[in-house]
Amino acid sequence: MRGSLFGRRITARFRQLSKSAVVSIKVKLLLFICIAFIVSLTAHNRAASLMGWTHPDIHQSSSPFRKGYTVLINTWKRTDLLKQSVFHYASCPGLDAIHIVWSEPDPPSDSLDEFLRHTIQLRSKSGKLIKLRFDLNMEDSLNNRFKEIQDLKTDAIFSIDDDVIFPCESVEFAFSVWQSASDTMVGFVPRMHWLDESRGGMECRYLYGGWLSVWWMGTYSMVLSKAAFFHKKYLDLYTNQMPASIREYTTENRNCEDIAMSFLVANTTGAPPIWVKGKIYEIGSVGISTTGGHSDRRTRCLNDFVALYGRMPLVATTVKAIDSRHSWFW
Ligand SMILES: *[C@@H]1O[C@H](CO)[C@@H](O)[C@H](O)[C@H]1NC(C)=O
Repeated sequence: MRGSLFGRRITARFRQLSKSAVVSIKVKLLLFICIAFIVSLTAHNRAASLMGWTHPDIHQSSSPFRKGYTVLINTWKRTDLLKQSVFHYASCPGLDAIHIVWSEPDPPSDSLDEFLRHTIQLRSKSGKLIKLRFDLNMEDSLNNRFKEIQDLKTDAIFSIDDDVIFPCESVEFAFSVWQSASDTMVGFVPRMHWLDESRGGMECRYLYGGWLSVWWMGTYSMVLSKAAFFHKKYLDLYTNQMPASIREYTTENRNCEDIAMSFLVANTTGAPPIWVKGKIYEIGSVGISTTGGHSDRRTRCLNDFVALYGRMPLVATTVKAIDSRHSWFW
């Protein structure tokens, strides 16, 4: 009798103990998982090198494209932004030259020119001589940004606006994506043409899809030239081969030269562009895309270009290129 009472007490005590032990094991397990997660995130690279895996310097490989890229900056009356952009991109390893599309009535001042050259010398890490050139334009047209450039050393052009900055790491990654598909546009700002269903699909009308719709649907068919790589041959095609009516259209409407470029590349390749994940820093104030009526104008351009082409050349896709070193979970 006594023995069994004692025994029961022991069992009860043991149950209690084992219950709390289970709880503490769970807590420990959770803690362990958390720590392992954090450690693997922060020490991803270190762990890899412990295993004898080191990241090869993918930028040192010898490919015919290793000449690097030319940064083509479109600027207008925002010298401070231009200075920031040049200051930043001068330090990117793959940079070969900087071309500044200058459409102001007055040429750039000597002091600006001097400042930028000095900046480039100071910031360049590659030890290469980085070329800086202003491409002066008489008329103020949006087509200026796609004027053909003589004596370009690189096939790759990284076209950007002066009010956005991308870290060199993102630029270099996009460049490596472009090297795998050098006929297509590779960029950071995707947009979409949606079929306008409200008209019952009788006539093919399209709606311009901004970042919100692309983010929601994950589908896009253009990358904007405010931040994109493309082959230099498209400058020639845009300036000399594309129907003049399209260039006149963008000059008159003061808009949509980027859509025109997307049409041109899509019409040439029959393929979609490639959207690359990258960090974006906006350094300017609010741009044109946030002002009212913007998407109506873009929609009008879209449909007018379809009429000029006689068909819709844009191809939609859902592919997005990411750097696998930074996507931890496979
Ligand atoms: C589109 O491509 C086709 C076939 O490559 C070409 O014949 C046509 O001229 C191009 N259209 C425009 C508007 O450039």
